[in-house]
Amino acid sequence: MSARLGAEPKVTGRAKYAVDHNFPGMVYGYVVLSTVANGVLEAMDVAAAKSAPGVVAVYTPFDSLGLTTTSSPMMGQTWVPLLNRDVDYRGQPIGVVVAETFEQARDASALVAVTYREKPARTSFEEGLPSAEDAPENRGNPPEISVLAPGVESIEDALAASPVVVEATYRTASQNHAAMEPHSAVAVWADGALTVYSGNQGSDMQAVELAGALKLPESAVHAVNPYVGGAFGGKGRTSAPAFLAAGAARVLGRPVKCSLTREQVFTATANRPATVQKVALGANESGTLFAVRHDSWSSTPMDRSFVEPTSHGTSREWYATQNLAISQKMVPLNIPLTTFMRAPGEAPGSFALESAMDELAVALKMDPIELRRRNSSIAPPGIDLQWSSKHLDECYSIGAQRFGWANRSPNGRVDGDWLVGMGTATAMFPALLFPATVEITLNADETAVVSTSGADPGTGLLTVLSAIGSESLDLPPERITPRLGDSRYPSGGLSGGSTATASAGAAIMVAAAGAIDALLALASAPGAPFEGQEVTYADGHVHGADGTASFGELLRAVGRESLSVTGSSGPGEERTKHSFSSFGAQFCEVRVHRLTGEARVSRLLGVFDAGRIINDKLARSQLSGGMIWGVSAALHEGLEIEPDGRLANADLASYLVPVNADIPDIEVQFVEYPDTFNNAVGARGIGEIGVVGVAAAIANAIYNATGVRVRHIPITIEDLL
Ligand code: MOS
Repeated sequence: MSARLGAEPKVTGRAKYAVDHNFPGMVYGYVVLSTVANGVLEAMDVAAAKSAPGVVAVYTPFDSLGLTTTSSPMMGQTWVPLLNRDVDYRGQPIGVVVAETFEQARDASALVAVTYREKPARTSFEEGLPSAEDAPENRGNPPEISVLAPGVESIEDALAASPVVVEATYRTASQNHAAMEPHSAVAVWADGALTVYSGNQGSDMQAVELAGALKLPESAVHAVNPYVGGAFGGKGRTSAPAFLAAGAARVLGRPVKCSLTREQVFTATANRPATVQKVALGANESGTLFAVRHDSWSSTPMDRSFVEPTSHGTSREWYATQNLAISQKMVPLNIPLTTFMRAPGEAPGSFALESAMDELAVALKMDPIELRRRNSSIAPPGIDLQWSSKHLDECYSIGAQRFGWANRSPNGRVDGDWLVGMGTATAMFPALLFPATVEITLNADETAVVSTSGADPGTGLLTVLSAIGSESLDLPPERITPRLGDSRYPSGGLSGGSTATASAGAAIMVAAAGAIDALLALASAPGAPFEGQEVTYADGHVHGADGTASFGELLRAVGRESLSVTGSSGPGEERTKHSFSSFGAQFCEVRVHRLTGEARVSRLLGVFDAGRIINDKLARSQLSGGMIWGVSAALHEGLEIEPDGRLANADLASYLVPVNADIPDIEVQFVEYPDTFNNAVGARGIGEIGVVGVAAAIANAIYNATGVRVRHIPITIEDLL
């Protein structure tokens, strides 16, 4: 099992993250945040700040950096700071102080005197809910979807005709990605061109966004991020510090470093929305679903730029049902921006749907795995395209066996003062593909380079480039140099949506085939060592009637230092023939103390059907990392917003995430069926599915242990006393 490339520099501190870049003459930016939740900036008095020691400049919407709106090729409109005087939430970037040192910039930022014309703010999701229904500002809600069996007039009729119905409302908390590396950037201008070092999920996309905001040709922007300290969707778009550093560096003619503090990350980036989800399931006595209704409300910022797709991403796809109705509504609030976070839609959506499935199993007095088996879909309801490959039942049977599911009693068991329960839930995440291009270079020194602009935000893409490059070129991995995180490499798409391995991997195979073809053409060309011969390629060598030559020997023989070929891949015709998703079965054992209400996850097992696994170690790490996040969502994480729009827990002391003591041994298993309909590599996504279903499995285990059904996450001690 090969090691993770890049691990050693990361754990020894040699890896250079964005803020680790330093340049002569560099100055430091400190971002100024709004202190009201809704209003207009009437004035910003920066005189005192400007005369503070070391201060070089202060930029605000009144003295701006000349930035403009921009968008990301794959993620749409990006929020750019200092464009206008509107304040839509507390903690919004409204200025930047630039000074000779970070401390000077930070101190001076406290001297910026801001006058607001304040407006009433709406920050409470619960208060916003009633008005969400029909508010004119709710234009832009995703379309409602309704699938009805012949003769059925409405989903209500379908539910009324169902002998067994469960209906409940579930709530999930807003979350921050809280990546280890705060959003930051170092921007350097030289000869009319900009180089930006800033963690992102696709450097070519970041270059496009920066070029747009700075009104520059794309060729004038160079985005670099070989290392990313976590992203999870939160670095999909370019961050405020990157725009501010780039703009300030242009005006000042000096390199600028700008980093958010940990506290600032919670408001000056974007969060996962909070959701309220109403689920109704109707079934017959043998547990066959007849009707599924899933209505969701998602908190959104005032610009309604992102809605958490809980209904569309979850109930649309999971179970076979003849009648399905899903809706998704926005609740615009004066809260920080919202965006994609690991398993957007499915993570909170699965909490609602998979809790409801457990409630249905209880109502039916049926084993929850059996209920899920009976409703397994061969295609998403209302969609003619069958799953390309689905082995969810096998995930459940392997998991049930390994986990000792047969020992589960419907009422849990008691172990001293601990109430012990088992829960399960399905995991799904769609297998998407994005366009990606990879360049392969064969060098005369017998090495090969595989390069793409994509990012490795900790997912292991660097290792994947090496592994798929190695097998596609029939070379040992130590002769492959993988390169990514640089916008000058061919466009690698987005490291997001659990797509990078499948997308970049398929492009590597195309590029490698092209490189081998080009090599063979070179080998048999007039004047070349195998002129006019039938030639084949294997094991790094060209084989012809006259013998063999390594590709390095061949390149040297024809006087070439290297040979480069690009290859591209993207969603193709197969997407019109099948539906694509990864699947999994989550198993959880929870112990709840009968006196203190403390809930402890004692065992976790996930069995996943995600196509071919390229690197077992990396894949386990992705899945167990996702499962840990599921524990966090279930029992720890949640942003708390005060009526005045302040986040009460905007730091890692009060925003709870699990520590080692909260996490039991996690077991990850794969059923490995390569999915070559999805792409030539046979891989589907594994980055996000790990978190999906875990919170429901935990809530279901808590119910099994205690008989208490908690319909919100995080579940806290108060819920179990
Ligand atoms: Mo992500 S939420 O796959 O960037």
